[in-house]
Amino acid sequence: MSTERLSECWENLKRIGAEVSSELNLREAFAEDPARFSRYHSTLDDLFVDYSKNLITDNVLNGLLELAKEAGVTEWRDRMFAGERINITEHRAVLHVALRNIDGDPVEVDGEDVMPGIKEVLANMKAFAARVHSGEWKGHTGKKITDVVNIGIGGSDLGPVMVNEALRPYHIDGIKCHFVSNVDGAHIVDTLKGLDAETTLFIIASKTFTTDETLTNAYSARSWLVDALGDDGAVAKHFVAVSTALDKVAEFGIDTANAFGFWDWVGGRYSLWSAIGLPIILAVGYDRFEELLRGGAAMDQHFKTAPLAENIPVILGLIGVWYRNILGASSQAILPYDQHLSRLPAYLQQADMESNGKSTTRDGKPVQTATGPVIWGEPGTNGQHAFYQLIHQGTELIPVDFMVAAKPLHDLQNHHDKLVANCFAQAEALMVGKTEAEVRHELDLQGMSADDIDVLAPHKVFAGNKPSTMILYRQLDPFTLGRLIAMYEHKIFVQGVIWNVNSYDQWGVELGKQLAKELLPMVQGSESAESRDASTAGLIAELRTLQS
Ligand code: F6P
Repeated sequence: MSTERLSECWENLKRIGAEVSSELNLREAFAEDPARFSRYHSTLDDLFVDYSKNLITDNVLNGLLELAKEAGVTEWRDRMFAGERINITEHRAVLHVALRNIDGDPVEVDGEDVMPGIKEVLANMKAFAARVHSGEWKGHTGKKITDVVNIGIGGSDLGPVMVNEALRPYHIDGIKCHFVSNVDGAHIVDTLKGLDAETTLFIIASKTFTTDETLTNAYSARSWLVDALGDDGAVAKHFVAVSTALDKVAEFGIDTANAFGFWDWVGGRYSLWSAIGLPIILAVGYDRFEELLRGGAAMDQHFKTAPLAENIPVILGLIGVWYRNILGASSQAILPYDQHLSRLPAYLQQADMESNGKSTTRDGKPVQTATGPVIWGEPGTNGQHAFYQLIHQGTELIPVDFMVAAKPLHDLQNHHDKLVANCFAQAEALMVGKTEAEVRHELDLQGMSADDIDVLAPHKVFAGNKPSTMILYRQLDPFTLGRLIAMYEHKIFVQGVIWNVNSYDQWGVELGKQLAKELLPMVQGSESAESRDASTAGLIAELRTLQS
């Protein structure tokens, strides 16, 4: 790939961008082109992605596809699937795709097939979950486990939390999963309130097994259990671990026979498919977890084989680049019209922002383009009554991903019909807007005086021409959820390639961790804070005053 050619692609897109900004009106584009909807959608079986309401034209898409080719999206994709060490700053392969390749060919890292190891851990998790579900695995006092508390943070929390919520209709009776992540003691205290130590199982989930928040919570959980059961020996039956660092698991005092491993080529934010998914298996059963994996694998297959112009993650990634780099959007809203996807925006915040929130290229140079946008969102229709005002009439361009199921997993069809109507209506409203003439006509029909119309009309105008993508699927089953998650993973991958950043490290989270360690003795009062900047030192002094 030559930088010169790349910049030609960018220059071309900027030219088209100027035209589109001044000339493209989506309302007119639909009126003039009856084939717009059928041309601008992609499908993977029942997963239907309508991107026709985006600020794009054939010229835009062709320019973006050209950019994808020049940036080497297919070559990087193939290198990832082939197990090459594309995470260059950590010298690691990026192989979360192997975790769901359960029916596929061998996948090698440095000549060694990783699939047997993956299948062995899956079999161990399956057997363990079966023992817990049947009651064969008993707590220290001989009782069946009824509550599971996963202690982890970031990638060792958000994936299982999101999936646990998404698959609520599939939860197995008699067992409930809870999640503790924050080092704020309120999180573990509130979670443990009402739980019975005799029937509670803790999963300590940490890729590195060094994360302070997780270890602090793990030690507090351990004290809670030992205090309640009055025996140190109780730990063996109430603590299991998920980690790549089994030596550290042993140091903590968990029998490694009760530990489930994974590998350094699984990034934390891509790890829900690995042993990090253990709470998912406990919540919904192994078979459902396997359906989730198969859904992910189906999207992998699509990503690997579909032509770029029909490739869902590629199209979504490119449209995101278009907004971020050419039309200047700084955020992307994720608005699932699916209550069970309520944690998807938070999950995607880590997946996307920790991956592409970078300002250094793979070659160690400053990036020349803006990179990852701010990801945010809430489930519909709640968001409509909160922040949609700004999307409709504010001054920011905010591309939106809507998603909704055709069929609910409950019996209240009238609720679902209203949900879908609201979802489609918001996408339509953002796109068509309401002109001043339409507003005036409407107010006139209501019998308002001409003077009052003059005052009110400007406030009721909707500019419209606001972009959105609609993701429609039959129902939110584990297979579909797997496809959706993998779709976003690959979208993030495509954008990382275009921006020439390493999407698989996260050095930006280190400094805060390091400084927190330094500040702790100052917060605790055993060290002076004089050496710090005046603000930090002043805050610590103020804290001590308020604590006295
Ligand atoms: O916040 C940084 C981070 O390293 C994430 O990337 C990771 O998912 C999280 O911390 C938790 O790390 P671990 O699983 O090693 O405890």
